[in-house]
Amino acid sequence: MKNTSVRSLRILPSLLLLAGLAGLPAQTTPVPNPQLASRELNARVESLLKKMTLDEKAGQLAQYSVDNATGPNDSKLNFDEMAARGEVGSMQGIVGAEATNRFQHIAVEKSRLHIPVLFARDVIHGHRTIFPVPLALAASWDPSVAETVARYGAKEARADGIAWVFSPMVDIARDPRWGRIVESAGEDPYLGSAMARAWVRGYQQDDLSRPDSVAVSVKHFAAYGAAIAGRDYNAVEMGEITLRQVYLEPYRAAVEAGAATLMSSFNSINGIPVTASPFLLTQILRKEWGFDGFVVSDWAAIPELRDHSIGADDETVVRKALEAGVEMDMVGNLYGTVIASQVRAGKIPESVVDEAVRRILRVKFALGLFERPYTEAGPAYDATPERRAAARKVAGETFVLLKNDPVEGVGALLPLAVKAKKVALIGPMADSQREVLGAWTVTGDPKYVVTLKSALAERLGDRLLYAPGCDFLSGADADILRQLYSGGTDAANNHAPAPDDAKSIAEAVETARKADLAILALGEPTNWMEGEAASRVHLGFTGAQERLLEAVAATGKPVILVVLSGRPLELKWAAAHVPAILEAWSPGIETGHAVADALFGDVNPSGKLPASFPRAVGQEPLYYAQLPTGRPAHGDLTHLPRNNDEKYMSRYVDEENSALYPFGWGLSYTRFSYSRPAVSRNEVPVREVLASGHKPVTTVGVDVKNTGSVAGTEVVQLYIRNTAASVEQPVRELKGFARVTLAPGEQKRVEFPLGFDELNFYNAEIMRTVEPTTYKIWVGGSSLATAETSLQVVE
Ligand code: NOJ
Repeated sequence: MKNTSVRSLRILPSLLLLAGLAGLPAQTTPVPNPQLASRELNARVESLLKKMTLDEKAGQLAQYSVDNATGPNDSKLNFDEMAARGEVGSMQGIVGAEATNRFQHIAVEKSRLHIPVLFARDVIHGHRTIFPVPLALAASWDPSVAETVARYGAKEARADGIAWVFSPMVDIARDPRWGRIVESAGEDPYLGSAMARAWVRGYQQDDLSRPDSVAVSVKHFAAYGAAIAGRDYNAVEMGEITLRQVYLEPYRAAVEAGAATLMSSFNSINGIPVTASPFLLTQILRKEWGFDGFVVSDWAAIPELRDHSIGADDETVVRKALEAGVEMDMVGNLYGTVIASQVRAGKIPESVVDEAVRRILRVKFALGLFERPYTEAGPAYDATPERRAAARKVAGETFVLLKNDPVEGVGALLPLAVKAKKVALIGPMADSQREVLGAWTVTGDPKYVVTLKSALAERLGDRLLYAPGCDFLSGADADILRQLYSGGTDAANNHAPAPDDAKSIAEAVETARKADLAILALGEPTNWMEGEAASRVHLGFTGAQERLLEAVAATGKPVILVVLSGRPLELKWAAAHVPAILEAWSPGIETGHAVADALFGDVNPSGKLPASFPRAVGQEPLYYAQLPTGRPAHGDLTHLPRNNDEKYMSRYVDEENSALYPFGWGLSYTRFSYSRPAVSRNEVPVREVLASGHKPVTTVGVDVKNTGSVAGTEVVQLYIRNTAASVEQPVRELKGFARVTLAPGEQKRVEFPLGFDELNFYNAEIMRTVEPTTYKIWVGGSSLATAETSLQVVE
């Protein structure tokens, strides 16, 4: 990568305007974070910093954990004694008012300078009230939904003494082999940035000092989701244009929204581990984006720099991480022990340590921890009706109706019109509490989950028949995973493992025969196979579930498939043989009620896929915004059919290029029609676009109409293609979306602004720019949108 120091100069607004008018690339000017950059706050920080000893400073840079939640932790340290000496900056693993207050009391009352400890936790999709997983929330295409979940998470975390959450995860994820796709907003930088901003708003409320705000830790900076072959923690190799234009965008959005902290990622990029990358952590994050908060490493990532072979000893890796811009060492147990001696030996300038301490203290002051270090103990947690209602409503927005074909003599199976009918509910997901809660529910308790079986029983009584059908896992997978997870997690799963899949499948077939239709609840067990360190090379249903599906479908009974998964699965057989498929992700505590609402039509599905579903795992990484090739010459290679009669084309000979279900896809119980989109101005001078900043230069308008017979919500999506730029641009890019709710027959006009923000790209000099070109523009209900217009950007 190029040295970009010249570009890092902050450009004054007037210069920016001049640059724009002269037709030069326009750059944005970083704005200081008002939460962390006030004069008063900095004065408090400086006055405290002056009093600190070197050991106290080093202590502020250390985070310890009382457990080994997500990695090694061989510390034998006495944290109470260290806190009394003022040498603990942050703690993980302590939760609850009583426990955090006990520890805080030591830090605040016994230490010389009374600096409070910052308690941190993985609050990912709710703290105690567990909502759908982040990938599902992105499927709502409704940022306010992420904001709501963040608000609940923040309030509940704060009630437990936690003022800092390791969320949101904003990594672009284009490869579902990577288990952490579940924590992401999927494959697209535009959607991902919108969700990132909403998460930050929800947690921090633009005011960290509120007693129910928490500081975010935006993670994992950067490009962690592009791990080669989808294998967790693996290296990333990536050009700088793609890095900036695709992968860095959501982090930039989160920083602009005021994120107080970031977490550096485990991976390396082009040979440099991010935890020791001055290019990412100093050059881009601080100099270009003006980030005022602090960076925490990921768990033990600083000692792991030795394993990345960029330093043979602790001293070297500590120096590299600190000087690159990692202010806090998460459970690496190195900053606390190595930094002070390195400064004394003249190997690390004290000014570097001071700057790191400053950034951490700023966040502690901004959070009001010095004024309110303790947490008032409240009533014990309960999943109250109000919390349940919120979780149910949110989940209802996240489901994606993948398919709902009419069945001969019956019509569309969904919504269910069951009066006298018997329904067979089949599958290991149907009555599991743990496996539908989703990955990363560290403080959530599966006992609060309403399963699909209990929710359907509420509605159907004895017209509901049930058979588990098979276990989640079978054969060697089952043995290995049980061994890996032995020690409690399986006990939390209330689904009794089926000892013999063949027998259970036979029983399920019998159950289906007795019913009028079958609902299959299949997927992948979230507790076993999703999230961190859960990469997969097979993306089908786990265990014997596919066999179960085939056997039940063979009965000839109409089948509705409910998929409960934290990643796009390979659904090729199901798509060809099952008439109705609902992707329900991992919906959280209200799983059963929310899925039943959608099945019965009380809630009309409105979710759209935030990530492409492949036909075959060999297509991965599969995403809609691919770069063009010369073969095909003008067409969209994403949809190049296999039977095209030209041989030398960028396609597979044994499978279609296209996704089975593409990005943005999702049906409804009603239908929507689109008028031809129109631009308010179809020709705009390039210098006007360059000078437009965040303002639009034109708008794209389209009429959307509900042509069906029930009310519904459509996610209207706008895609562009820059057809002639100095650097090749994707065949389609999302640049606008809006959720529109329409009564039957109702029509609404939707307008999308387009300006520099939507039209720019990075040129070969790594500057964001716009050049004279033609933009193709499509508006529709998925990335396959066909209603088209265009915009000319002229000299
Ligand atoms: C490792 C994970 O990568 C990160 O997402 C998490 O926040 C930390 N561990 C803390 O548990």
